[in-house]
Amino acid sequence: MERIFGRPIVTQEEMRARIRELGKQITTDYTGKDFVLVGVLKGAYAFYADLARAIRIPMRVDFLMVTSDGSRAKTSGKVKMVTELTEDIKDKDVLLVEDIVDSGLTAQYLVKTLAKKKPRSIKVCTLLSKPDRRTNNVTIDYVGFKIPNKYVVGYGLDYQQKYRNLPYLAVLDIEGDQE
Ligand code: IMP
Ligand code: MG
Repeated sequence: MERIFGRPIVTQEEMRARIRELGKQITTDYTGKDFVLVGVLKGAYAFYADLARAIRIPMRVDFLMVTSDGSRAKTSGKVKMVTELTEDIKDKDVLLVEDIVDSGLTAQYLVKTLAKKKPRSIKVCTLLSKPDRRTNNVTIDYVGFKIPNKYVVGYGLDYQQKYRNLPYLAVLDIEGDQE
């Protein structure tokens, strides 16, 4: 790999510890519910796999895939769902699992779209949040880490579809900050 990624922003140890906490919290909150954990691909794949195994109650797993803009380091302003759920979520308790909430556009669009399928409840869990960049008003129920306005890669997150397999989160060093 080219060395365009720099400092780790969250270490693997910090990640493991935080995901264990989130798993415990979600286990408590969803005990006794008809629970569906929905992963938003591609970015959430690594977080989803770890989070799901930290949750100790029966659940259904499902996924959907979205694209916003494939090439740039910013969301284009248009979200598209490219694959659908396979589970029927009507009357179920749905938790959406995202890699990162930036402007909030993707999360807001997905919550609105999935709500049409009449789930009993729908909440959002994201590994990362950039609160300073939020332009869309959306409630995020579980946040792994709040991070500053830096473009990060690894642990599922990409830059131009690469670096998702980096086992930790790092700040991308090309072009400096996002702004
Ligand atoms: P939002 O719709 O603006 O909240 O952006 C969400 C999507 O933008 C994420 O699912 C990512 O695909 C992408 N994104 C935003 N910030 C970053 C980042 O720092 N690294 C990698 N992808 C990011
Ligand atoms: Mg992306």
